[in-house]
Amino acid sequence: MSKLRILAVNLCRLILALTFILSGYVKAIDPLGTQYKLKDYAAALHLAEYIPDWITLTGAIALAMTEFALGMFMLFAIQRRLVSKFTTAMMVVMTLITVWIFIANPVKDCGCFGDAIKLTNGETLLKNIVLLAAAIVTMLRPMDMGRLISKSNQWIVTNYSLIYIVCTSVYCLYALPTFDFRPYHIGANIKKGMEIPEGAEQPEFETTFILKKNGQTREFTLDNYPDSTWEFVDSKTIQTRQGYEPPIHDFSLTDTETGEDITENVLNHKGYTFLLISRSLAYADDSNFGDIDQIYEYATEYKIPFYCVTASTDKDINRWRDLTGAEYPFCTADETTLKTIIRSNPGLLLLKDATIIGKWSHNQLPDTEELTASPDKLPIGQQTDDGVTSKLIKVLLTFLLPLTVLTIADRIWAWSKWVRNKEKKESDKIFQIFKNKRKMRKKIVAGNWKMNLNLQDGVALAKEINEALVAEKPNCEVIICTPFIHLASVAQVLDQNVVALGAENCADKVKGAYTGEVSAEMVKSTGAQYVILGHSERRQYYHETAEILKEKVDLALANGLKILFCCGETLEERKAEKQNEVVKAELEGSVFHLDAEAWKNIVIAYEPIWAIGTGMTATSDQAEEMLAYIRSIVAEKYGQEAAEETSILYGGSCKASNAPELFSKPNIDGGLIGGASLKCADFKGIIDAWKK
Ligand code: 13P
Repeated sequence: MSKLRILAVNLCRLILALTFILSGYVKAIDPLGTQYKLKDYAAALHLAEYIPDWITLTGAIALAMTEFALGMFMLFAIQRRLVSKFTTAMMVVMTLITVWIFIANPVKDCGCFGDAIKLTNGETLLKNIVLLAAAIVTMLRPMDMGRLISKSNQWIVTNYSLIYIVCTSVYCLYALPTFDFRPYHIGANIKKGMEIPEGAEQPEFETTFILKKNGQTREFTLDNYPDSTWEFVDSKTIQTRQGYEPPIHDFSLTDTETGEDITENVLNHKGYTFLLISRSLAYADDSNFGDIDQIYEYATEYKIPFYCVTASTDKDINRWRDLTGAEYPFCTADETTLKTIIRSNPGLLLLKDATIIGKWSHNQLPDTEELTASPDKLPIGQQTDDGVTSKLIKVLLTFLLPLTVLTIADRIWAWSKWVRNKEKKESDKIFQIFKNKRKMRKKIVAGNWKMNLNLQDGVALAKEINEALVAEKPNCEVIICTPFIHLASVAQVLDQNVVALGAENCADKVKGAYTGEVSAEMVKSTGAQYVILGHSERRQYYHETAEILKEKVDLALANGLKILFCCGETLEERKAEKQNEVVKAELEGSVFHLDAEAWKNIVIAYEPIWAIGTGMTATSDQAEEMLAYIRSIVAEKYGQEAAEETSILYGGSCKASNAPELFSKPNIDGGLIGGASLKCADFKGIIDAWKK
C-alpha cells in the first residue's frame, strides 16, 4: 500500500515537474510572446492602458522563471514541503483563471505553452484540474518524493536552473526565440501556409431576420421566413461553425505610396526578397539603422526587392525616414501578424520564392562586410536555421548534460556515504554488543583485608559496610575477603545479596594432618562464596607456586567457591617489559587448565606487585593495556564470548580518588582493594565510582 502511495505521489510529481519545466521553458525562449499574452489578459480586464510594457515584460520573464524553477525543484525534490505548497497555491490561481477564460472566453488560447502547444480553453481547464489534483497529492505527502540530489548539493541545481532560465530569456530577447513554433518559422512557405486544402471544413453562419407587422416585431430564420405581409427591419449574422483556418491567414501587404495590395507580388516573386519588419516604427530600435541601410544598398545592387513592412502611421514612417535616411519602400500589414512573424522590432526576413530562409533580430543582422556577391553565392542565401535536432542537442549540452553529470556524481557520492554509514552502523552495533557485554559481565569491587583487624573490629567493619550498602544499593557486586577467623561471624552480619563474603586463602589439600591449614570445604562451610588465590603476597612470602595454586583452584571450585585469581609482575619484570609473559605464565600455570564451565567461576585480578601498598598506582592506561591483554589471552583459550563475560579487576593502591578514572576503561571491571577496604568510607568511595 505504501509503495503504491509513493509511486502515485512520484507520478504526480513527475507530471507537475515536466509540465512546469516545459511551460516555463517555452515562455522563457519567447519572452515577447509571453508578454503579448499577458497584455491580452490585461486587455480583457480593461487594465492594458494602466500597465506599462516593462512591467508585462518583467512579469513574463518572472513567470517563465517561476514555472521553470518550480518544475526543476519538483523534479529534484528540493524543499519538498515548501515547493509542493507553492505549486498548489499557483495551480489554484491558474485553475481559477482558466475557469474564468473557459466561461467568459476573453482570450482564445491560454498561452500556457506559448506557441508550442495550443489548447482550447476547455482543454486548458481540464489540464489545470489534473495538475491541481497532482499538486494537492504532492502537498499531502511531500516527503514521499524521493530526492534526486542530496541536500548539500541542492544549491547547485537551484542556482544553475535560475541562471540558465534567466540567461535563456535575456538571450532570446536580444536575439530571437531559440525554437520558433510560429507559422513564420524558417523554412515555412508563406504561400503554402495560406492555402486552404480542398474539402476543408467550411465556416457556417446563421442569419436571423427581424421583421415587423401590425406594430409587432419578431425574429425569423431562413427556415421559417414569413410571407410578404411582414416588413423587413434588420438582420443579424453569426458564425456557428469555425471552419478550417490555414496557419497563415492574415498575411496582407499594402503599399503605402499607392495603397495597392502587393501581397501577391511579393509572394509570387521568383528569387530573394528582404522584408524589414517593424510592428511599430515609433518604438523600433534605431541603433542598427546603418546596417539596415547597407543591406538595402546591397539588395538594390543585386536587384533584390526590399520592403519595410510596418503597422505604423504615415507620421511614424516619415519620422523613421528622417531619422535613419531610409530609402526603401514601406508597406503596411496587421500589427498582430507582424508581432507573430518576428519577435524583434525591427527584424529582418529573407524570403526565397515565398519561403522564409533567414530571420534576424536587429541585434544580429547579417554581417554587411560579407555581402559581396548575390545571395545564392553566400551563406545568407541558404536556409540559416540550425534545425530542431541541433538546437535540442545544444540545450542538451548546455543544460541537461551538466545537470545529469552532477546528479550522477551526487548519487554515487550519496550511495558511497550510505555504504559508509551502513558499515559504521554495523561497527557501532558490534561496539554496542561489546559494550552491552561489558555491561553484562559483573562489575566488582572486592576488599582484601589481609592480616588486619581483630574479630570484633572486623565484625564491626563488616556491619558498617553492610548497613551502608543496604541503605544505598551499590552499582556493582561487592565482596569482602577476610581472614579465616572472621568468616563465620562476618557471614552472620552480612546480607550476601548486597555484600558477598570471601576468604583470603585456602589449603591445597582436601583435609587431614596439615596443622594450621584451612580447607576449601571449611571456607565454604562458613558461608563464604569466594576465595582469593594466587595473591602475590602468598606467592612471595609463602612460596606458593603455580602448581600449588592449581591444586587450590581445583579444590576451591570443587567446593563451590568462586575464585578471585590474582596475577601480576614485579617492578623488575615490568622494567624488563616482561609483564605480559609473567602474567600469561601465571594464568597458564594455575587456571587455564580449567574447562569452559569451570572458567565461569573465575574472576581475575591483575595486581602489579610494584603497585601493591606502595601508593604507586599503575596508570589507567597501563592497567587497561594489561587487562585488555589478559582478556585477549582468555579469548584465545576460551573464545571471544567467554572473554567478554570474564570480569577482570585491577588491584594496587586503588582509592576513591583514582577509581573513577580506572573504572572508566573498557576492560577494567572493578578493583581488588587492600588498604582502602579497611575503612567503610574509603571502601564505599571506591564502590561509588561505579555510579559516576
Ligand atoms: P593496596 O590496595 O593496599 O595496594 O593492596 C592491593 C591488594 O593487594 C589487594 O589484594
